[in-house]
Amino acid sequence: MSVSNVLAMTDSQFEPVGRSPDTSASGGGGVAAPDAPSMISVRSAQKHFGDLHVLRDIELEVPRGQVVVVLGPSGSGKSTLCRTINRLEPIDSGEIRVDGEPLPSEGRALANLRAEVGMVFQSFNLFAHKTILDNVTLGPVKVRGKKKEEARARAVELLERVGIAEQKDKYPAQLSGGQQQRVAIARALAMDPKVMLFDEPTSALDPEMVNEVLDVMVSLAREGMTMLVVTHEMGFARKAADRVVFMADGVIVEDTDPESFFTAPKSERARDFLSKILGH
Ligand SMILES: Nc1ncnc2c1ncn2[C@@H]1O[C@H](COP(=O)(O)OP(=O)(O)OP(=O)(O)O)[C@@H](O)[C@H]1O
Ligand SMILES: [Mg+2]
Repeated sequence: MSVSNVLAMTDSQFEPVGRSPDTSASGGGGVAAPDAPSMISVRSAQKHFGDLHVLRDIELEVPRGQVVVVLGPSGSGKSTLCRTINRLEPIDSGEIRVDGEPLPSEGRALANLRAEVGMVFQSFNLFAHKTILDNVTLGPVKVRGKKKEEARARAVELLERVGIAEQKDKYPAQLSGGQQQRVAIARALAMDPKVMLFDEPTSALDPEMVNEVLDVMVSLAREGMTMLVVTHEMGFARKAADRVVFMADGVIVEDTDPESFFTAPKSERARDFLSKILGH
């Protein structure tokens, strides 16, 4: 199947997000407004693991409310990039700012940053011995200092929003993978994040559960959440992303709007990548 055929397919469950004109189809990294500070700003970021140069001079500006999908072959540095943005990995040099503030390196400020930059991984990482409700309540109480009752009320609201409020008294192992991933999203949202990072949130799920998680992500995008999403779900990229960033060997090779990326990738690396993921 050709790239353009895939692009022409419609996933009926996704409505186009219909983002504001200043961020959509801007062709090449749509900056919201000349003076608007980026929600995520990565400048000249370098990262090594031993001799391996994993992030090479990364420059990435994500304006408030923008949804950026990160694509690239295995080992290209996508997860590392995500992890540096909430400082699960420190960078060697360069600068990362979230909402204008440089990342703190430790202590309370770092805990607050992690709350403000929600992250959802491939594996859900829920507390196995806590109920769903407790999983979503714990962070706001411990990190954000919310009153328990208030945190519980908000948790129920969020669980309703992701469609699993009726499961609130169960334990993670009693839920399907798709349900657990929706809990993980609710848990991140309970911290009132400014940004959400998703690292292949659907790749560990059975196919029939992928859409229930993507639907939640599409609705978040529609509500204006700033999102950086590593995913190979092309339907999501095409319908919800303002931008596609394509990485290879630790370098951002292309940074453009989804339509251009999927129909007319500029680099040989991107063409090769697309033919591999779309060519089955
Ligand atoms: N903690 C670590 N220690 C050493 N090397 C690491 C570490 N984490 C990642 N790497 C290496 O850094 C490179 C980039 O890894 P990363 O996980 O960011 O890639 P990725 O693009 O997310 O790949 P995938 O699509 O397989 O998830 C890889 O070569 C990986 O082996
Ligand atoms: Mg990865």
